[in-house]
Amino acid sequence: MKKTTLALAAALLPLLSQAQDARIEAKIAALMKQMTVAEKVGQLHQLSGRQFTGPASSDYADKLADIRNGKVGSMLNVKGVADTREIQALALKSRLHIPLLFSLDVIHGYQTVFPVPLGESASWDMDAIALSARIAAREAAASGIHWTFAPMVDIARDPRWGRVMEGAGEDTFLGSAIARARVEGFQGKQLGATDSVMATAKHFAAYGAATAGRDYNAVDMSNQQLFEVYLPPFKAALDAGAATFMNSFNTLNGIPATGNAFLQRDILKGSWNFKGFVVSDWGSVREMVPHGYASDLADAAVKAINAGSDMDMEGYAYSQHLEDAVKSGKVKMKTLDDAVHRILVKKFELGLFDDPYRYSDAAREKAVLSDPSHRAAALDVAQKSIVLLKNERKTLPLSREPQRIAVIGPLADSQRDLEGGWVVQGERAKVVSILEGIRSHAGKAEVSYAQACASGCAGSEGFADAVATAAKADIVVLAVGETWDLSGEAKSRTDITLPGQQEKLFSALQATGKPVVVVMLAGRPLVFNTIADQADAIVYAWFPGTEGGNAVANVLFGDYNPSGKLPITFPRSVGQIPLSYAQYNTGRPVTDEKNVVYKSAYIDSVNTPRYAFGHGLSYTDFKYSGLALSSAAMSPDQKVTLSFDLANTGKAEGTEIVQLYLRDMVSSVVRPLKELKGFQKIHLKPGEQRRVSFTIDRNLLSFYNSQLAWGAEAGDFKLMVGSASDDIRLEGELKLQSK
Ligand code: NOJ
Repeated sequence: MKKTTLALAAALLPLLSQAQDARIEAKIAALMKQMTVAEKVGQLHQLSGRQFTGPASSDYADKLADIRNGKVGSMLNVKGVADTREIQALALKSRLHIPLLFSLDVIHGYQTVFPVPLGESASWDMDAIALSARIAAREAAASGIHWTFAPMVDIARDPRWGRVMEGAGEDTFLGSAIARARVEGFQGKQLGATDSVMATAKHFAAYGAATAGRDYNAVDMSNQQLFEVYLPPFKAALDAGAATFMNSFNTLNGIPATGNAFLQRDILKGSWNFKGFVVSDWGSVREMVPHGYASDLADAAVKAINAGSDMDMEGYAYSQHLEDAVKSGKVKMKTLDDAVHRILVKKFELGLFDDPYRYSDAAREKAVLSDPSHRAAALDVAQKSIVLLKNERKTLPLSREPQRIAVIGPLADSQRDLEGGWVVQGERAKVVSILEGIRSHAGKAEVSYAQACASGCAGSEGFADAVATAAKADIVVLAVGETWDLSGEAKSRTDITLPGQQEKLFSALQATGKPVVVVMLAGRPLVFNTIADQADAIVYAWFPGTEGGNAVANVLFGDYNPSGKLPITFPRSVGQIPLSYAQYNTGRPVTDEKNVVYKSAYIDSVNTPRYAFGHGLSYTDFKYSGLALSSAAMSPDQKVTLSFDLANTGKAEGTEIVQLYLRDMVSSVVRPLKELKGFQKIHLKPGEQRRVSFTIDRNLLSFYNSQLAWGAEAGDFKLMVGSASDDIRLEGELKLQSK
């Protein structure tokens, strides 16, 4: 009986959604019939309204009048129930009473701040990542927000680029999984639920490959790279249902992404059949003028909409010129209608025509923002994100027995730096600093503190005091890194070493002879060769969010056994950048580091990174053994199971992220030495062993050939399983037969 009801419901669901689509379509058709061209253009105009409410609002009288007159379709940067209600009420006074969409950069939390996205990605934990997005959505949606400008799914292999912080790192396979998890987290089961927000897959496309890591810079890349490395996370976001896409500031092979019909019309809305809408990035329509692609703002408007950019964020190109462009025939009414239609569909799906205030409910805002489970989740995600880079002689975990721990460093007692770059509503006073976390977890150990130098560590006046504090202690915990404002948008750096005198501070402390544990905060991979060579232990904590201090302390004292793995390569120097594990062998590979003459090498550095993609230690040891393949060969329509044993051979309970890589040995287009094709998080008690398996199918062996056709070529594949891209423990071989 129950089974039949379920089956019936499952069969009815698509019919119900078709009926809903038809109802929405009928309403949109009726509405669009009444709309003037100016009102249609209004739907495509997005304004930032940070100060539209409150004391300065009279300065924005003309913009408020535009909202009242139906000339604005969406706002960014208006948040909170009171403000969104006030502005929505104004929009509802317009002739056709079309509600506004409220959007915001809810990137790693709304009020509860989660680790920055790159940090979260180090958890390789799709449930945790989805939960963090879910909670961010829940809080934002209770505060009047309908739409977040996240996730950023740009693959990024250049840590000079400050925005590596906002993405999932360098890898396409991992990045695609994370893109899916984030979209599902933000959007929940269904758009229109009042605990969900629309997601935005951004920045379409290839923004992460900005030349020389300089933000907003041009991108030149082959279509193969584009299709193989940079586009798949966008496709994954789309398949997960991403309601919107944002285009990007960069040019791609000479054409600005915002005016790029190949990207937006041919790929996104064409072969991918994307039904949502595309918002420009901030002013990116207008920026086509300085790019040298549009002669003036009017030309930019025409080029952007014809290329598939539906909404103009703070560019004023559409609001000032689109009406004329439609009248003169430069933009077809059909093109305008399609953009308007896409936006109205989302407003209907969100339920805004039924109740324009449904996301702006004061009681829900109060209850949701004070939900204690959100902080618990922030702690969980933060500790899963932390990567133990080094741990000599088992320096960590720290003991809570009587001993003296000196906590030192410019970032030790900081709250702001733990939050990272995109904080929209964070409650700074409630952020747990590293010092506070250590103090509250220290048990019988005694904790002393010296700041040593102020934020940025320009001066060394406090070093003597810090050294004296260290000299009196049994062990030193040094908190250094980048401050929050050194990574993110427009924060490209040519020098990614530790800012100021922080490595000197390390050396001064180390000279005391005390063991030094370094806790590092950052939004990107940093270069810190002295510390990497000499520190006793290194804990990379990224910008870990509201619960950061507790997460760090849990790791330091062993209450949480670290399990994070790097989602991006850490170079030894800026000179090695861009550096990825997925590199090519070349015709002259280095086989012996001592003899690199006429090899693909540097004469002043090894090729290998400081810390490789996938690296991350644990307080326990894992043994890999017994690799087996269900068959040594497969035809294109067969599948092969690769399996092996993973054992926890150490003394602590722990989680290992096992990684599957492969190499296609000979192919019509040369393939990287290693490509990640699978991973699993396995939790084992001491002494426990488990058989782990991966399924290999044709899809996993496929790539884009020189004709951009996706497929697998017959031949030999090397399969590698390991604990990091440079720590392969088991290897196997597989033959793909032609038929
Ligand atoms: C510019 C950034 O590139 C984009 O990611 C962000 O969503 C918008 N500004 C809006 O703040």
